[in-house]
Amino acid sequence: MNFDSVVKSRKSVRRFSNKKPDWRAIIEAIDSARFAPTAGKNFTLKFIMVKDRETIQEIADAAEQSFIAKAHYLVAAYSDISRLTNLFGKRGEIYSRQQAGAAIQNFLLSIQDRGLATCWVGHFNDDKIKKILKIPDKMQMEAVFPVGYELGKSAKKPKIELDRILFFDQHKKKKMKVPYNPET
Ligand SMILES: Cc1cc2nc3c(=O)[nH]c(=O)nc-3n(C[C@H](O)[C@H](O)[C@H](O)COP(=O)(O)O)c2cc1C
Repeated sequence: MNFDSVVKSRKSVRRFSNKKPDWRAIIEAIDSARFAPTAGKNFTLKFIMVKDRETIQEIADAAEQSFIAKAHYLVAAYSDISRLTNLFGKRGEIYSRQQAGAAIQNFLLSIQDRGLATCWVGHFNDDKIKKILKIPDKMQMEAVFPVGYELGKSAKKPKIELDRILFFDQHKKKKMKVPYNPET
């Protein structure tokens, strides 16, 4: 798939077929995360790949979202924020969340490119997930991703229009100066 198609076809999938994905494809998608930008070259996101059905069921319960349990694999993402807070103080917390998002998007696009499907799940009980996966308390839970093949074909959601998010020269200024000459 070309880059634009991958970006525009990505969607959250909450219905998974019985077909089991090749775990190697999921590892490759996780590998894509490493190429995201990082504050001060500190990569802070970590992943746990889960295949045990009982553990996936427990995570679905901790998230109160039953569709998660239907996936053959689940990837949990969490950050070790201490490295960035040591370097950048309070701002390090913000950087950590921002770079987690950038790395996660690489992962999501790579999942899409490999014909797999997932959904970013951010609503869950952090403490329960940490306990299930033995993640130390000081870590920041980011998200969990049930991974599988899509069952059927859900419609893509309409996206916000460009003219609602893009301004020129100042906040809320919608009109671009015409002619627009990037060299002046
Ligand atoms: C931070 C974050 C948290 C989310 N948490 C959940 C969640 O707990 N459960 C869920 O089903 N979807 C969750 N989503 C997925 C959104 O519902 C979805 O991205 C949104 O509806 C747009 O649809 P799309 O991903 O198909 O473009 C989350 C997405 C983000 C970015």
